[in-house]
This record gives sequence, structure tokens and C-alpha cells, in this order.
Amino acid sequence: MSSWDLLQEELNKPSIFRQKESLMPEFLPDRLPHREKQIRELAVFFKHLISSPGGFSQKVLIVGRVGTGKTATARIFGRDFVRFAKQKHLDIRYIHVNCYRNRTLYNVVLELARQLEVPLPSRGLSVQEMYKAVLSYLDETNTYAIVTLDEFDYFARIAGKESVYFLARTYDGYPDMIKRLNFIFITRDPTALALLDSATESYLLRHIIRFDPYTSNELYDILSYRAQLAFYEGVIDDNIIRFIAEACGRDRGGDGNARQALQVLLLAGEAAEKEGSMTITMEHVRKALSIVSPDIIRFADSILYLPLHELILLWAIVRLLRRTDKPHVKMGDVEKEYVMLCEMLNETPRRHTQVYEYITNLKRVAIINAKVSGKGHRGRTTLISIDYGPLDALERMIEDLIRKRKTEVNMFGA
Ligand SMILES: Nc1ncnc2c1ncn2[C@@H]1O[C@H](COP(=O)(O)OP(=O)(O)OP(=O)(O)O)[C@@H](O)[C@H]1O
Ligand SMILES: [Mg+2]
Repeated sequence: MSSWDLLQEELNKPSIFRQKESLMPEFLPDRLPHREKQIRELAVFFKHLISSPGGFSQKVLIVGRVGTGKTATARIFGRDFVRFAKQKHLDIRYIHVNCYRNRTLYNVVLELARQLEVPLPSRGLSVQEMYKAVLSYLDETNTYAIVTLDEFDYFARIAGKESVYFLARTYDGYPDMIKRLNFIFITRDPTALALLDSATESYLLRHIIRFDPYTSNELYDILSYRAQLAFYEGVIDDNIIRFIAEACGRDRGGDGNARQALQVLLLAGEAAEKEGSMTITMEHVRKALSIVSPDIIRFADSILYLPLHELILLWAIVRLLRRTDKPHVKMGDVEKEYVMLCEMLNETPRRHTQVYEYITNLKRVAIINAKVSGKGHRGRTTLISIDYGPLDALERMIEDLIRKRKTEVNMFGA
């Protein structure tokens, strides 16, 4: 068969997906079943922005384990709050900053300015100057904002206490200022609170919204709704949705993680499509469940925003670990592999010190382990390991992401 015929045959096959994106993690659904209580709580906490804006700067803490809908809930709340305010002729903006991607105070403030479209001079401003520009811009335009610092624990850990303090206590010492900035802090790990100053900590403890892991019944409702958007009718049976919900539900020993449950649904759908099946069977689901280990999901999440060269380096590590079948690989070998991959990808390899910094970053976000070898090895060398897997699945994800990055670069010339 010619490649043209092959392509025609594949592309003309009917699809089981009506709207595949609606199963992707970034997709923002219109409804969030079983998060009604949390949305109401948020509304109560921010009500003053409608009734008497400017009186104080609200700060709220969202705490919940992975995949419990924290990000989705904050975003949907923000979207609808802005809409409501608009009806009341109030200019309120919702800003969502991912602190995993923006780990320094400078980056967070820059992101804030960017999303608020604050005009900044092209000469480099200091953080303080930039923040001042943001605050005056809000004043001049008579605007209020709710700023969500998502995955806030990364920021707190890396940027440090003073940086958190800088943001959380924006208006301290300015009792007469109109309080235009309000914050939502999101974290999986409540011990991150210890990274705050004690006044902010005790304030936030009284303004907590908890997100519990989902039960199977809750996941069943979530999956049914999302499946309805994603698949054509008749593709997936109710019993199968129930099965996935029970495999992931907290009450059945699962993690209660909606992202994981949705991923199973997506992978099962993809497996069915690959086989040319017009329905999703239990076998497809079983296969999907075996791939979707919590480790893999966490991995997929944490590599999503890595810079290209950190990805290439990670790829080098995974390839070497697979090839040698050893528990760890040496820094020197990783670097050689990295240089080789860079050549293959037409990228200029970064220098040793930079590469070393990448390793430190990957270690800090717990994607890899790295330790300096003790005596016994000739000279000291850094040993790198990854203690979860399977590595072939990790490698596939990294490759996909690198390919995506490279095409983005080609398209946008960034
Ligand atoms: N109640 C819900 N209804 C519908 N979809 C949901 C619900 N809760 C979560 N989801 C979906 O599950 C996925 C994970 O949710 P989300 O990203 O909000 O979790 P999270 O708590 O922020 O997790 P993490 O701690 O990993 O950041 C998203 O695709 C989201 O749309
Ligand atoms: Mg999140």
C-alpha cells in the first residue's frame, strides 16, 4: 500500500471521539460535580469584592491531594466571579499563576504584570519597581484582582519566606491604601504553611478550603459527564465507567484522583481506536489501568513545563538507565548521551555548569535522584537514578513532549 493509501485508510476511519480534548488535563469543563461546596466557600470569602471592594485584601488557602480539582475549581470560580462582577459594572480580574513554572518572585510578579497587561518600560525593572507598577496600574484603572498562586509550595520552597512575605503582606503598613490585590494559595501539602510567616499562616488557617480525595460515586459522576463530552453515544457503557470509578475511588483503596480516572478513560479510548473498535471494552480499560500508575501521572505533570534542554537531559538519563539496566548512571555518561541527543535534535548543547544546574533542578522537583558517589569509585562523580517507572513509558512521554516543543519552536520561531 502506498503511504497515501495508508493515510487515507486511517484518516477516513470513523472516530469514537466526539471531542477528545475534553479528556485532557488542561481542559476546563463547564461543570464540576461535587465541588459545589468549595465554589460556594470561595464565593463567600470574596463577596466583599462585590459589596465593599478595597476594604481589605483577602487571602484564602486551598489544600487537597493530587487530582482533587483544586486548579479546575479555582479557574472556574475565577471565570464566573469575573463575569458576575462585570454585570455589576465592577472591573475584577482573575489571574492564575502556576508557581511550578514561575518559581522566583521575579517570575511571579512578571507573570502577574503580563496577565494584567501592565505596560512596563523595556528597560529591566527590579521586582519592587515592577510590583509598584502593577499596584499603580490597578489604581489608575480602578481594577481589582484575585490572584491564584497555584502549586504555591514550589514557590515558597524555592523563592523562600521573604518572597512569600513580600506578596502576602503587600498592604501591611499601608492602612490607607485601597486593597486591590487578593490571593488564593493552592497547595497539595499543608506543611507548606510552615513556609509562611506566622501572621499569614494563622490568618490562612482560618481561611482554608479543603478538597478531599473523590469517592467512587463522585468519580462516577465526574467520569460520566466528561465521557458524554468526549465520546459519541454508545461508545462506552455505564458499567465500564463504574468500573473505572471504583478502581480509582478513595473508598475502594484508590487515590481519589480525578486526573488519573480521566486519564484511564482517555487511554482506554485510544486503545479502542487503535484497534479499530467502535466500543471501549473492559480489556481496553484494564490495559489503560496498568499504564496509569500514580508515578507516571505525577511524572507527566511535572515534566510538562520543563525547558527543552532539561527535557533532553532527562531523555538522556532515561535512555541510559534503560540501556545499561543499572540502578544509576554517572553524570559523565549522561552528559555524553545528552550531547549526542542535542546533535540529533539540531540543538546546541549547553555547557557543563549549565547542565549541572539542570540536574540540580530535576532533583529539586523530585523527578530524579542525584547523589555524589562515596569512596570506591575512582574520583567522585554524581550518580543519577530514577526510582519509579516503567522507563519505556517515561521515555515515550519525554519524546512526545520534545517533539511538541520542537514543532512549537519551528512554528513560532520562539
Ligand atoms: N469535580 C470535577 N468535575 C469534573 N472534572 C474534574 C473535577 N475535579 C477534577 N476534575 C478534572 O480532573 C483533572 C484534575 O483536576 P485539577 O487539575 O483541578 O486537580 P488538582 O487538584 O489541581 O491536582 P494537582 O494537585 O495535581 O494540581 C482536571 O482535568 C479536572 O478538569
Ligand atoms: Mg493543580
